[in-house]
Amino acid sequence: KTEDSASGVSVVNGGGPVYEDKEENDNARPEDLSELLAAGTKQVHEQAENTQFVKDFLHGRIRKELFKLGAVALYYTYSAMEEEIEKNKDHPHFAPLYFPNELHRHEALARDLEYFYGEDWQSQISCSPATQRYVERIREIGLEDPVLLVAHAYTRYMGDLSGGQVLKKVAQRALKLPPTGEGVFFYQFDNIHNNKAFKQLYRSRMNELELDASTKDSLVQEAVRAFQFNIEVFKELEEMGKTIQEDVLDGGPIHGHMQGDISK
Ligand code: HEM
Repeated sequence: KTEDSASGVSVVNGGGPVYEDKEENDNARPEDLSELLAAGTKQVHEQAENTQFVKDFLHGRIRKELFKLGAVALYYTYSAMEEEIEKNKDHPHFAPLYFPNELHRHEALARDLEYFYGEDWQSQISCSPATQRYVERIREIGLEDPVLLVAHAYTRYMGDLSGGQVLKKVAQRALKLPPTGEGVFFYQFDNIHNNKAFKQLYRSRMNELELDASTKDSLVQEAVRAFQFNIEVFKELEEMGKTIQEDVLDGGPIHGHMQGDISK
C-alpha cells in the first residue's frame, strides 16, 4: 500500500484508490443474492470507479459548485428511492431490508443542501436530465415491480457504507468544510456503528428473501442498470464541471504548480 499524496486515500491494485479491501466470504453459496449481485456488478462497478468525475473526486479534485450539484442529484435520487421504499416497506420482498433509521439519506441530504444553498435551498435546486431518468426508473419499479427496489437500495446503500468515511474526509479537506460535518452529513451514518457488520447483516437479509432464480437474475440486471444510471449522472456532472465559470469557483482559478496535478 502507498499513500496518495493528494487525498490520503490508500492506493492498492495497480493504482486504483480503494476505500478498504474487498471482503471474501468463505461460507457463501453461489446462489446467494449477495454473491450474485457482487459478481454481476463487478464489471460495471469498475466502470463507475473509472469515470473521470469519480476519479477526480477521490483525488480531492472537486470544486464546490460541482460538489453541490452532486448533492442535488443525490437528493432527488434518494428522495424518490426512499419514498418508494416507504410505500413498499411491508412488501415481503422488501420488508427485511427496511432500515429507515440506519440508512435513509433524504434528511441528511436536505441538511447538506440547506448548508450549501441557504434557507430557501428548495427554490434554488432543480433535477438534472440524467437524474430525472434515474428517478423515473425508480418510480416505475416502485409502482410496477417493487422487488426490484432491492437492486437500487443495494447499489446505493452498500456503496455508501463502503466508501462514506473516505469520501467524507476527501470532501472536507478539498472544500474546506467545517469539521462539524456540515455539507457532508450524507456520508455520515449516525445510527450505524460498524459499517462492516451492518453490511453483513444487510447481505444476510438479502439472502433470506424468498426469491426464485429468475427474480434473482432480474435483480442483478436491475443493479447493473442502477450503476449505469449513476455513471450517467457522473458523466453529466463532469460535463457541467466544464461549463462552471472560473469566477464562481471556490478558491478561484487553479494556478501554476497545481496544473501538473490536475492533469494526472
Ligand atoms: C463496494 C470501492 C464507487 C457501489 C465497494 C468495495 C470497495 C469499493 C473496495 C468493497 C467493500 C467491501 O467489500 O466491504 C469503490 C471505489 C469507488 C467506488 C474505489 C470509486 C472510485 C462506487 C460507486 C458505486 C459503488 C460509484 C455505485 C453507485 C458499491 C457497492 C458495493 C461497493 C454496491 C458493495 C459490493 C458488495 O459487497 O456486494 N466499493 N467503489 N461503488 N461499492 Fe464501490
